[in-house]
Amino acid sequence: MSIAEQSIIPARQADWKQRDRHGENLNLKGQVAVVTGGATGSGRASAGKRADRGAAVMVADINDSASAATAAEVAEIAGRSACFRVDVTDVGACSDLAAKTLEVLGPADILINNAGVAGAPNWQKRSFSTEEDWKMTYRVNVIGMSNIVTAFEPQMAKRRSGRVVNIASIAGREGRPSLPHYSASKAAVISLTQSTALELARYNITVNAICPGLLWTPMWEQVGERYAREVPAYAGMSARQVFDVMIADRIPMKSEQTPEDIAETVVFFTSYDAKNITGQALNVDGGLFMR
Ligand SMILES: NC(=O)c1ccc[n+]([C@@H]2O[C@H](COP(=O)([O-])OP(=O)(O)OC[C@H]3O[C@@H](n4cnc5c(N)ncnc54)[C@H](O)[C@@H]3O)[C@@H](O)[C@H]2O)c1
Repeated sequence: MSIAEQSIIPARQADWKQRDRHGENLNLKGQVAVVTGGATGSGRASAGKRADRGAAVMVADINDSASAATAAEVAEIAGRSACFRVDVTDVGACSDLAAKTLEVLGPADILINNAGVAGAPNWQKRSFSTEEDWKMTYRVNVIGMSNIVTAFEPQMAKRRSGRVVNIASIAGREGRPSLPHYSASKAAVISLTQSTALELARYNITVNAICPGLLWTPMWEQVGERYAREVPAYAGMSARQVFDVMIADRIPMKSEQTPEDIAETVVFFTSYDAKNITGQALNVDGGLFMR
């Protein structure tokens, strides 16, 4: 056995033991979780992970057919799930979602604000940001989160308990030449997370953000298409090839992040042990950003 192999094996074993010891803390039995954008990608993984830990899950998304499919999968794991068509930019629809969740599953304990877009329709076919791209990313990625929190705040505040996790991005950590409207919206999510954490602390509600790195999801597939067309270094590549080259060139751990990585981090933020963590933004990016 080489030195490298010897050092890897004990670390993995220790990791499994630790997971067993903390199993009870990470058990979400009896809790109600709402996942926006829960139909596909990392939201779907988050919905599944919550169900796996025993929570009842409301899948809330603008894509009703995919939401129904995810809710059905979740029901097979946890038994209690529902789906609701919501456009997070619509205040009335967010308030209907809160009422429906209360009616069919009970008061929400966990909000996962995951719904997001990278631009207005057909953004992946453009080489520049239009005013519509700016407006839509801000409306969905930022104002949509605020709408959801406002709709559920009474349920959580009344019970003096709650956990909110906002999905930001490493794109919000540093300005980038490509998709500036998206980067700016994700920087705003980090700021919104801090403000909301300050506002809701008095109700014993924590609010944190996760900044995922590169996840192979329907959204990233479109990002890859745009890069292959616009960035000379990626010319002629498939979206997946662009993704793999970016992982190899930019991620110190040399591995892609997965929707499950994000779902596990959400579990930690919603656990009992995270009760004193609020207003934070955590990078889950294989070491790409270290601040
Ligand atoms: N894929 C990545 O590499 C990556 C990296 C960092 C952050 N993120 C963020 O993770 C989150 C999930 O993205 P994903 O990669 O899984 O993409 P995705 O496109 O698979 O999922 C986004 C979901 O949001 C839903 N949605 C879009 N607009 C909505 C609206 N107005 N109301 C309700 N639902 C709406 C979509 O229907 C979809 O199900 C997003 O916030 C995204 O910005 C993704």
